[in-house]
Amino acid sequence: MWYRKHILSTETITKEAVESLFVHAEEMRVLVGKTGGNTRLTGKVMAPLFYEPSSRTFSSFAVSMQRLGGTVIPLQTMATTSVTKGETIADTARVFSSYADVLVVRHPEKGAVSEVAEHASVPVINAGDGIGEHPTQALLDLFTIAQALGRTENFSIAFIGDLAHYRPVNSLAKLLTIFPNISMTFVSPKEASLQEEVQTYLSNKHISFQQLQNWDEVLPIVDVLYVTRVKKEYMDSQLYDKIKGRYCVTGKVLHMLKKDAIILHPLPRIDEIETTVDHDPRALYFRTQIRNGMYIRMALLDLLLAKS
Ligand code: NCD
Repeated sequence: MWYRKHILSTETITKEAVESLFVHAEEMRVLVGKTGGNTRLTGKVMAPLFYEPSSRTFSSFAVSMQRLGGTVIPLQTMATTSVTKGETIADTARVFSSYADVLVVRHPEKGAVSEVAEHASVPVINAGDGIGEHPTQALLDLFTIAQALGRTENFSIAFIGDLAHYRPVNSLAKLLTIFPNISMTFVSPKEASLQEEVQTYLSNKHISFQQLQNWDEVLPIVDVLYVTRVKKEYMDSQLYDKIKGRYCVTGKVLHMLKKDAIILHPLPRIDEIETTVDHDPRALYFRTQIRNGMYIRMALLDLLLAKS
């Protein structure tokens, strides 16, 4: 299901594939707890091609490869490569396909990672393409939801913030369409609402969803509060000034949430969640979400690269 596949979008991921990935990610959690890792991917090489900054995605992919015995080309950013001399995406894809067994690519333009995949001869993982998608973030988000709620269906989720520019929201909303009975609400300023393309995708799958500007009515009923950052780097300062600080998870918001609701955030968090909220057991972004990213990426790299 995953072997040697490109992971560009959540659109092509099946329920069975998610289930097998989650079983394997759970095995990775146990493995890391017992021995820190193993040598299954000895001889395999990952090329991280990051045209945009990253903390968690870069580090968790690198460490996942290393915990399974694989190696990583020591390239922190494309700013030190021939890209600065004008090398095209197609040529860069060809070059790194000659050295590595998998390319993990982040790029500021939507569609650029698919272009890498067209010219690569090894699997390509989309680690975020502009305002497009971030499929592995969605997988680790859903894994965290499954772990906390005990199910991947029958729950309600509200996405909060700058939804027009936030690729993890696009990927997770699309991924959730393969599971039954998930109620999705998108809360954003009207200038930063969910992209038309994603709305159409959901409608075509017969998923009904609501879009709101005020979150008061959803806070008491949601199982998952999915908070996002305003993507300052993707908009002009006028829009940024208009929408920044519109929603902030405070102690008061915590009181409005259900006792067993959970709060997720892909991070980095700027000012959309008060730091005092971090201590609440429902706040999972530091507690489990980040670490789950490593288990999911270990599982994914293993399924992609090792013939089991
Ligand atoms: C997100 C991203 O890069 O899309 N971060 C991440 O990968 N965890 C969100 C963001 O940039 O704010």
